[in-house]
Amino acid sequence: MSEITLKGVSRVYGKKTRALDKIDLTICNGEFIVLLGPSGCGKTTFLRAISGIERPDEGDILFDGVSVLDKKPQERNCAMVFQNFALYPHMTVYKNIAYPLASRKMPKDEIDRKVRKIAEVFRITPLLEKRPRVLSGGQRQLVAVARSLVRDPDVFLLDEPFSNLDAETRDILRSEVRRAHALHPKTPFIYVTHDQTEAMNLSDRIAVMHAGRITMCGTPAEIYDRPADIFTAQFFGNPKMNLMPGMLTGSGDDCILAAGGGTVRIGTGDAGPGGQRKVLLGVRPEKIRVPENETGAGGMGNDDVLRINATALGKARLGMGEQLLFSINGAEGEFSAVPEEMPAWECGQQKTVIVLKKDILLYDPESGQRIL
Ligand SMILES: Nc1ncnc2c1ncn2[C@@H]1O[C@H](COP(=O)(O)OP(=O)(O)OP(=O)(O)O)[C@@H](O)[C@H]1O
Ligand SMILES: [Mg+2]
Repeated sequence: MSEITLKGVSRVYGKKTRALDKIDLTICNGEFIVLLGPSGCGKTTFLRAISGIERPDEGDILFDGVSVLDKKPQERNCAMVFQNFALYPHMTVYKNIAYPLASRKMPKDEIDRKVRKIAEVFRITPLLEKRPRVLSGGQRQLVAVARSLVRDPDVFLLDEPFSNLDAETRDILRSEVRRAHALHPKTPFIYVTHDQTEAMNLSDRIAVMHAGRITMCGTPAEIYDRPADIFTAQFFGNPKMNLMPGMLTGSGDDCILAAGGGTVRIGTGDAGPGGQRKVLLGVRPEKIRVPENETGAGGMGNDDVLRINATALGKARLGMGEQLLFSINGAEGEFSAVPEEMPAWECGQQKTVIVLKKDILLYDPESGQRIL
């Protein structure tokens, strides 16, 4: 099985909670999809609907073009790692991992070989004869993931499988998940995480969820470089993408963006019938250049760059570099920059910062959708 399609899938709890709200998505060619979104946005409900534990109130779910709505979870053949990594408490770790194979009537010696192999990969061989209640949270999680990866299902569904583990173990296991995907190139993986780096690392595509909807689904580069809406833009990236108020005037070649006290000829776009349109300018902190002085933009004019007059507010240490904070002169709002080269810096100093035209994204303040 290589393709899963969700058509207008909704799941409503009680009267108001739209845990899934008209989800349309096709996962094709055994893709690795990561679901990312804030707590309560519907990620677990999404996996439960695919596995058959939860029945949608509207819409359809198809495996390779065939509706599975009337198929029971056992018939859908999904390997699922639950967020609470439920293990069978009365069974040893060995039996827990062997269970999905035994229930498919695999010969005992083959089961034994597979269980011991995956236990070694997950470094849980010493735990095989223990019962779940004596394991730590992280160890239980490892057993749950091992139990799902030990078999050949039609789809892998993993709900925050490594949330309880330390960073080093998580790194190792991420590679194991990647390897499992390489071994099952035609089997879709749907993987939920809160960790953006993990999402970037693992996925073919990331589906960003918000309030039961998918706001954008794209490759990590598409999501990062050209987010389709304000929610996706600000959810992804640390520090967050800057959004500053701006005004578009004119159209086509004469379309000009004014923001932060500067202007730049955008060259495409349309301010609309009134000749003016309020916009939000989106720019990633690492795309903001902070030259030492006015001439730092190397002679580039208003056709190439936007110059923003700003006041230095403060700085904060990040892992790799430093984040500089600014207020925009003559307008409300602050923004941050993570420049490659650190300028001389003093709080209260006046700076002209530079944004290249190609790094500018424009959003509609009302709908939140990208317009450029
Ligand atoms: N069985 C249920 N009954 C009622 N409401 C539910 C039920 N399961 C989930 N919900 C609600 O549906 C919404 C989506 O829940 P879901 O568990 O899918 O979120 P999530 O994205 O997985 O969150 P988290 O990141 O915290 O795990 C939430 O508002 C939640 O309270
Ligand atoms: Mg969840």
